[in-house]
Formats: sequence, C-alpha cells, structure tokens
Amino acid sequence: MDSPFMTTFFRSLFHCRACLKQSSTVTRLNGISRTRTGLDAYGLGRRHYGFGAKPRDVAWQPRQSNFIEDMSEEYQRYPMVTAELLKTRRERPKRVKMLVRDFIDDALYNPHYGYFSKEAVIFSAGEPFNFNSFQDALEFNDAFGKRYTEFEDKLDAIEYNELRQLWHTPTELFQPYYGEAVARYLVANYKLSLYPYHDLILYEMGAGNGTLMRNIMDCIRDSDPDVYQRTQYKIIEISPQLAALQRAQVGDHKDHVEIVNRSIFDWKSPVHNPVYFIAMEVFDNFAHDMLRYDPFTEQALQGIVLIDDKGDFYEFYTAQLDPVAERYLRLRKSAFRRGLKHPLNTPRFLRNLCTRLPFSPNLTEPEFIPTKLMGFFDVLRTYFPNHRLLASDFHSLPDAIEGVNAPVVQTRYQRQMVPVSTVFVEQGYFDILFPTDFEAMEDMYQALTGKLTRVMKHEEFARSWADLEATQTRSGENPLVGWYQNASVLSSV
Ligand SMILES: C[S@@+](CC[C@H](N)C(=O)[O-])C[C@H]1O[C@@H](n2cnc3c(N)ncnc32)[C@H](O)[C@@H]1O
Repeated sequence: MDSPFMTTFFRSLFHCRACLKQSSTVTRLNGISRTRTGLDAYGLGRRHYGFGAKPRDVAWQPRQSNFIEDMSEEYQRYPMVTAELLKTRRERPKRVKMLVRDFIDDALYNPHYGYFSKEAVIFSAGEPFNFNSFQDALEFNDAFGKRYTEFEDKLDAIEYNELRQLWHTPTELFQPYYGEAVARYLVANYKLSLYPYHDLILYEMGAGNGTLMRNIMDCIRDSDPDVYQRTQYKIIEISPQLAALQRAQVGDHKDHVEIVNRSIFDWKSPVHNPVYFIAMEVFDNFAHDMLRYDPFTEQALQGIVLIDDKGDFYEFYTAQLDPVAERYLRLRKSAFRRGLKHPLNTPRFLRNLCTRLPFSPNLTEPEFIPTKLMGFFDVLRTYFPNHRLLASDFHSLPDAIEGVNAPVVQTRYQRQMVPVSTVFVEQGYFDILFPTDFEAMEDMYQALTGKLTRVMKHEEFARSWADLEATQTRSGENPLVGWYQNASVLSSV
C-alpha cells in the first residue's frame, strides 16, 4: 500500500457496502473467472465528461452525464505520453494525455506502480487436492475456500495487507492435473509431427508461479523419459517477482529450464526451430484500444485519456486514429470472416432517433479492440516463425463495464472483490481483464501468421487430455471439466 490517501479511499468505499450486492461464496469460488470474487458493479472511477465543443477533427469529449467540464484547453496543452515513456517514472503521471491502450498498459505493467508489480499474488494450493475424497463439487469448493483463507492468513501473518490482489488460475487450482493434461497434449502432438527429427522446445509466456512448468516437466519426465531428455522449457516472464518464484520451482529440471525476465513485446531474437508456444491466461491483460463511433457518420474515433494536475481523468476521442488502431481496423475489414459484435450493429434509424433525444450521448457505447494481441501475433510471426500456439483464456466475463468486448475492472479490498464501472481508475490498484473473442482472434491469428487453428471449449480440452479418474469426485462430478465454462483454448494445427 503506497499512500494513506488510498487507504482512506478504499475504507470509504467499504463503508458504502450497503449499496453493493454481495454475491455468494459459491459464485466466489466456482471458477467462473480467475478473479470473480465479489461485489456487483459500482461506479468508482473519477471520470468527468463534457460536451464536445471543439472541431470534430481535434477531439471530442463524450456527452454522457450532467457533469460538464470543458478540458479542451488542457487537451491542447498537455503532452502525449506512452506506457513505454512512463516505464522509468516512479509516480503516476499528471498533466498528460495518452491513448487508452497506453493508459491500461501503464496501469497494469508499470514497473513501479503497475498492478503486476505491486500487490498481485497468485494463489498456490500447496498439496494437490484429492478429488476422489470429495463427495461432490460443492465439497471441493468448500475445501478450496478453506485453503484460500489459510493461504492468505499465512501471508497476513508475515505482513498484513488489506489491498493484496490475490487470484487463482486453473493451473493452480487443479495442479498437477491441469499441467499434466497440457503435457499429454504437447507430447502427443510432438510425437505425431516433430519426433524424432526435432527436440521438444516449449516456450511459456507469463508463467505465474511456475506451476505449469513444473507440472509439465514432471509429467514428461515420469511418463516419457526419452522425450524428457530432449525437452527444453523456456519461460518469458515480465514480472521480476514472478520470475523469482518460477526460479524457485525449477528444482531437478534445472538443465532443461531457462527463465527470461522480459516482456514478450521486447523479444528480439529469432527462433527458427519448431517450438510450442504456451500462453495461459495472459491475453486477458493485454491492453486494448477504446473506440467510439459518431452515430451519424459512423466514423471511428479513438479514445485518449487526459490526466489533470489532481490526477482526475477525462475521456477524449479523436478521428485521427494512431497507426496501430488503424491497422487493426483494416485487418478486421479484410480478414475477419464472421459477424462481429459492434456498437453500430443497431439499425441506423433507431440510432439516429436516440441520438437526437435531449441529453442523449453524442457518441456510441465504447468498443475495445485487442491491439496488443495483434502486436503479440506480430512477435510470433517475426521471431517464432515455426511455432505452434496453445493458448487458453476467458471467452466471456461477468460484470464487465459498459461496451463491446469490454473488460472487468476490479480490485480486492479486505479479501472482497470490488468490480467498478470504468477503466479510468487509480493505476496499479485494479486488475483490468478482457474477455477474448475467440472467433475474431482466430481470424486475426490466421491472417497474421498464415497458420491454421482449432478452438475448443475448456471442457472439451479437459475431457480430451486430463486424467478424468483422478479429478472426479465420488458423485461423478468433475470440477476440472465442469468449472471454467467461460474459458476456451486455441491451438495451431
Ligand atoms: C494471469 S497470470 C497467469 C499465470 C499462469 N499462466 C497461470 O495460468 O497460472 C498472467 C501472467 O502473464 C505475465 N505477463 C503478462 N504480460 C506479459 C508480457 N507482456 N510478457 C510476459 N509475461 C507477461 C504475468 O506477469 C503473469 O505471470
């Protein structure tokens, strides 16, 4: 916790709990999403709106509430900064403006105040759960809840932290079985297509606690010693804290494992060998651009956030798209094969009618476009031309903020998850995680890499590759299969 102000801020939020709707413990722990733990949507972000009084090609402020503050003079005066420029800054920026994509990137990944470098902790189950000993999924859920509390009690005994951002992933919850399922998929695929001509080279981007790496390597060593001899596992991890945890997990696999503490976006070495590239729950935190559309002309406008001298946020829109957003829209037009959710999908006459009503918004609802994910596929194409991708993420998320492909923005305070209704929040205190539109992602990936893909639901992947006997409860329910119904898996074929 780095400021007394924030403590007071969250305390006052907590005092408002009567206005919030508490969800049940079952919802909290049933794996609907990695951080679904809590309270219903609540407007918290300090966002101010005004009427767009400027020429259209300069900047628009969306007209959405009664609170009007014209910040066009500041908009002209403040410099435009990027997440890259802010990396060396220890303080959150003021008197600047930036693309929403850069704002999200900075809020999540700034090395000094970003979410991933501050309070984020990934739950570790310790001993694997004995699924056969549970009567049903509910009993497992209770046991999981108990371990979650014990895990946090231990951390609090070392250092109490009411702002600890604790979350869990299927890798951790179902260890070692989830990692073993992934290992079986990889080895079967390797034996079919690359063995014996190539080694098994695995790259994992964003390895969290390092549990997937350990579980995969243990499984290959125990089930396929010959393949294990030829296996190399390389982790690319942005967080120094998590890279340190991953090193501690390497153990006996030290001759086979390498950990590179770097963002995938800084990767510059070509890897020409055939490799498998694993990305589990990493895409959801990749920053997106925020667009709104002029409801009359249908012109796309790109979101820019202005931060004033008090640290308050103001949303602006410009018709001059930056090259990255422009390229994404071009790619979408030329390569996406399937119908998309889009803010302009409503009939034009209805839209025109609504927009003419007094006090109605002057721009459409926002759309969030995955521009960083596009950049990641560029990295794959450029530096890993012979890769095969295996990626899992959420195809939908409950309690997202308003908009198409909109993220969930949430923080955890005194062990309660608090979702909020805006992306413009104090940088570093909030997780901002996006659902992945797997159909759109598949089209984009195919267009950029030229590779074919397959998408399946998490359940199908688990049924195909997991040890179903070991993960079944006595009633026949299988949490590894039944939970994470909102996750999907994309693989190159
Ligand atoms: C939600 S965690 C998932 C951890 C792990 N894959 C799992 O399933 O348990 C996201 C991980 O991706 C890492 N990460 C996020 N952005 C990254 C980037 N640009 N380059 C490398 N690692 C990144 C985070 O530090 C973290 O380890």
